[in-house]
Amino acid sequence: MTKTKVEMATLLTTLTIVVSFLVRGHDCKVVQFIFGDSLSDVGNNNYLAKSLARASLPWYGIDFGNGLPNGRFSNGRTVADIIGDNMGLPRPPAFLDPSLNEDLILENGVNYASGGGGILNETGSYFVQRFGLYKQIELFEGTQELIRAKIGEREAEKFFQEARYVVALGSNDFINNYLMPVYSDSWTYSDNTFVQYLMETLRNQLTILHGLGARKLMVFGLGPMGCIPLQRVLSSSGECQDRTNKLALSFNQAASQLVTELSSSLPNATFRFGDAYDVVNDLISNPNKYGFSNADSPCCSFGNIRPALTCIPASTLCKDRSKYVFWDEYHPSDRANELIAGEMIKKLGFKPVNQTDSPSPAMAPSAS
Ligand SMILES: *[C@@H]1O[C@H](CO)[C@@H](O)[C@H](O)[C@H]1NC(C)=O
Ligand SMILES: *[C@@H]1O[C@H](CO)[C@@H](O)[C@H](O)[C@H]1NC(C)=O
Ligand SMILES: *[C@@H]1O[C@H](CO)[C@@H](O)[C@H](O)[C@H]1NC(C)=O
Repeated sequence: MTKTKVEMATLLTTLTIVVSFLVRGHDCKVVQFIFGDSLSDVGNNNYLAKSLARASLPWYGIDFGNGLPNGRFSNGRTVADIIGDNMGLPRPPAFLDPSLNEDLILENGVNYASGGGGILNETGSYFVQRFGLYKQIELFEGTQELIRAKIGEREAEKFFQEARYVVALGSNDFINNYLMPVYSDSWTYSDNTFVQYLMETLRNQLTILHGLGARKLMVFGLGPMGCIPLQRVLSSSGECQDRTNKLALSFNQAASQLVTELSSSLPNATFRFGDAYDVVNDLISNPNKYGFSNADSPCCSFGNIRPALTCIPASTLCKDRSKYVFWDEYHPSDRANELIAGEMIKKLGFKPVNQTDSPSPAMAPSAS
């Protein structure tokens, strides 16, 4: 009798352990899902055979890992790399990385960013192949299906709600769409109505992401894109394009409002907006203050041929890459990205994910 009781008790204990293990499931890690353009691409476009926006040749990646091109449009890290590192999050692999599978996604998240991509589907059509934001969200839905099949609905829901989301697009909607007369948006809209059109589209996209489980999401604003080397060569004096910078400022103002509004209207959403416009503007005006010696031309350039479309093996490099704000005609250097990321971390009050579950409300975006 006693023996049976003991056996019963043992059996119950075992059952309890099994049941609680099943309910608890496996503890998913906090990972990131990144949606972006060339500023965040970590290799997707290198797998798009027909894309004209690829960082597949030297000297891209020269200051990263083994120094070979890795798909990043920089000599080193992206802003999202640096922010993620700072938060203690793994760097998500490119969606098109052939080694991507469910286990890798559960460990590291996914990066859907694609050079030439924009908020609008029509942006960057000139690059032939790229993923715009709607397409990136569609790919994310496919990722969700894979993960649900692997770990079940409940665990998958938790996994996707606890993940961190980055949405960083917009500059191509201006540089490779609205500001180029070959695109019909350039004659369909005015500066104001175009920014409104972008905001309506972004509102819809962020709402879809929320519907798919995104709760902790940050939207990156635009820098002074009228000062990228590609824009400066449009004037004989090499000045920044004032109209382009004003468009970036109105995008940032509208996007900041949109994100704040969605963060309070969508259930359980902690959506934040951050930009580094002011700090980049300051380092372009006062490069020496930040240890830069050049803030207007690319470190990697093809002799005097400007603008060179991308950095290529025949290009020459500046002597000290840490002293140039710009790596190529479009993209900041690793060092500039470090300063940009530092500014966003400061503005958004990021902490490593294991220290705080959600950003403290006292750290509400102070971004412009
Ligand atoms: C939190 O994460 C950071 C970065 O990954 C790590 O260095 C630190 O030891 C962790 N702290 C705790 C309390 O786990
Ligand atoms: C944008 O592209 C996606 C496919 O990637 C498509 O489903 C959607 O209908 C398009 N939206 C518009 C407004 O063209
Ligand atoms: C919001 O969070 C509460 C508490 O965790 C939860 O019960 C509720 O289902 C969540 N709502 C949504 C839409 O995520």
